[in-house]
Parts: sequence; C-alpha cells; structure tokens
Amino acid sequence: MDGAMEKPIARLRLLRGLSLMGVVFTIVVILVGVWTRLVDAGLGCPDWPGCYGRLVVPDADTASLHSPDAPLETFKAWVEMVHRYIASALGLLVLALVALALPLRRRAGFPWRLTLALLAVIILQGAFGAFTVTLKLWPQVVTLHLLGGLTVMLLFLWLHLRLRQATLEGVQQPRVKRRMSLLWALVAALLVGQLALGGWTSSNYAGISCQGFPTCNGEWWPEMDWSDGFHLTQTVGPNYLHGQLHADARTAIHFGHRLGALALGVGLVLLAVAHWSRREMRPWMLGILGSYAFQVALGVANVLLWLPLSLALAHTAGAVLLIVVLTLAYWRASLMRSDKPGYQQVDDKKEWAHA
Ligand code: HEM
Repeated sequence: MDGAMEKPIARLRLLRGLSLMGVVFTIVVILVGVWTRLVDAGLGCPDWPGCYGRLVVPDADTASLHSPDAPLETFKAWVEMVHRYIASALGLLVLALVALALPLRRRAGFPWRLTLALLAVIILQGAFGAFTVTLKLWPQVVTLHLLGGLTVMLLFLWLHLRLRQATLEGVQQPRVKRRMSLLWALVAALLVGQLALGGWTSSNYAGISCQGFPTCNGEWWPEMDWSDGFHLTQTVGPNYLHGQLHADARTAIHFGHRLGALALGVGLVLLAVAHWSRREMRPWMLGILGSYAFQVALGVANVLLWLPLSLALAHTAGAVLLIVVLTLAYWRASLMRSDKPGYQQVDDKKEWAHA
C-alpha cells in the first residue's frame, strides 16, 4: 500500500473505533437518562443548561435565590447534571468525529451524509433535552427525546458498519447499495411504533396501570379511554412529574403498548420464516426472536413486580438490544443480497475476521 492510501485508511480505522465507542457511550447516556426519569430527577434542575444558573449544583441558599419556587434536592440535581455532562461529552465525540471525517468527505464510498445526519440528530437531542426541562416533562417531548437517543445509537452503529466496510474495500470503491424489502420495512415500522408506545407509557407513568398478565386489571378488554390516552396535542400542564392523565387513559396507553408488542412479535415471526431457508441467516433470526422474548419477559416482570428500578432499566436496555440485533441482522441480510447483479460482493471471510 502506498503512503497516499495509507493515510485515509488509518483515519478510517480511527473513525471506526470512535463510532464503536459512540455506540457504547450512547447506550450509557440513554440508560442514565432513563435512571434520571425513574428517580424523579428529570426536574432536579429547574433551568437549562445550568442548574439554578450554575455549571455545578450550588448550595441550597444560592439555589433558592435563583429559583425560590423550586427548592433544591441535591441528589436529584446531581443526577440530572450527570446526565447533562455525559450527554455533552457525547456531543463533543460527534463533533470530533465530524472534524476527523471532513478530509474524507469527497471520497467515493465514504458515509459523509450519515456522519452529517448524526450531527443533526445530536443537535436535535440537545434541544429536546432542553425542552424536557422547560416544558416540565411534557410526555410528547420525553418520548421524542427517548426516540432521539435511540436514533443516535442506531446512527453510530450504522456508521460503524459502513466504516468497517469502507476499510475492507478501500475508500475509493463505490459502496454496496441496499434496498429495504417490504417485510424489513414493516418490521422497522412496527419496532419504531412499539418504542414510541413504550416511551409514551413511561412518560405518562402508565407502567402500573394494567395490573396482572396476560389480563389487565382482571379483564381481557378493560375499561379504557383511548382518546384521552392518545391525545397528542394535549396542553402543557404545570408539571408532568408522575403524570396528569386519569386511570382509564393510562390503562389505554399501557394496553396499547401490549398490543404493539403482539404486532411486533407477529412481524418478527414472519421475518424469521422468510429468512429460514438461508442457513447463514438462521442464527440471526434466532437472536432476534430470543431478544424479543427476553424483552417481553422483562416487560411482564415489570408489571408483576410493580416496576422495580433495576427491571425498568433492564427493559430499556432490552429495547436497545433488540434494535442492535435487528440492525446487525439487516446488515447481514443485505450483504447476502449483494450477490445480485448490480451489487458488489463483499468477502465473507474478511468481513468476519474484522467482526
Ligand atoms: C418487544 C417488545 C417491547 C419493546 C420493544 C418495549 C419497549 C419499551 C420501551 C422503549 C419503553 C420505554 C422505556 C423508557 O422510557 O425508559 C417501555 C416501557 C414499558 N414497557 Fe415495554 N416493550 C416491549 C414489550 C412490553 C411488554 C410485553 C410489556 C408488558 C406486558 C411491557 C411493559 C412496559 C412497561 C410497564 C413500561 C413502562 C416502564 C417505565 O415506566 O419505566 N413492554 N417498553
């Protein structure tokens, strides 16, 4: 390899490492964010970006001078600030990645648009983090903030896969084109819907509004108020900590999340059936069905055990796992389809050596 080629490859390797770091780091930030919500620390600091106007949590006297109506709870304020510090560090990682990627942006096959998409989503996430505080945990914003965090993780993962491929093929090669089949698109839509329903369940504090499983409050079809539960333009109340909706509306939200899980399960079984004839895809399909079953089991355990902190966190981690496994399986499936005319073949052994 000549010197001119070596430089971009070394840079690609660095970017590849950073993108993988980004995946792990984003998962940590998401879980700390969820922990912040679960310990009711989302409003631990009444302002943004500072906490009672300071970069670090101040003492009670300083805090009461800044916001007399929001008494300082030191633990909650620190939890909220730790989430902001690590989210800011993640933002810096994305900026570093964009800066390092800049010289490679014109090279064929380099995922520059993906890098820019990551930058755009992380900026949006910062804005949603601010709105979460200023709009007092408005469920719409909290749900979008969760979906945004999961999108950042997904973009980091996809970027990593693309960079790995670019290092294998050399940056000058045109990239493998992927077209999502109808079935994969359906599964992706069902997953996004289910993640949104999950975020809606937690941000409206509807996690324990359906007692028991498989029945809900002792009935197969309990009393529910769907229009209030899914009133997406409801006004901003004084504060959404612990929710504002009445019991029947929360039951509808929780029940909707269970129905969403069922629909996703059907979609995943169809996906597994469709791919079963390809021997190489079988472990991936088993991985998808296994992580789905694990996630459902965690959801049910949360209901039966009244949402203990560790299980609630594990349920979000389970959602992350499902996204990762599905993404890797999709990547694998699309590489296999690349032997069709017009697609570029990727060397299987090399690919796995890198993995
Ligand atoms: C594979 C299907 C499922 C996925 C992908 C999923 C995903 C999610 C997500 C992303 C959240 C929001 C977590 C957060 O805000 O931190 C959530 C919340 C929740 N899910 Fe699921 N879920 C699934 C199935 C289920 C099932 C079958 C049940 C119960 C029978 C369940 C019960 C819950 C409960 C109780 C919450 C609220 C947790 C809280 O308030 O912290 N989930 N789910």
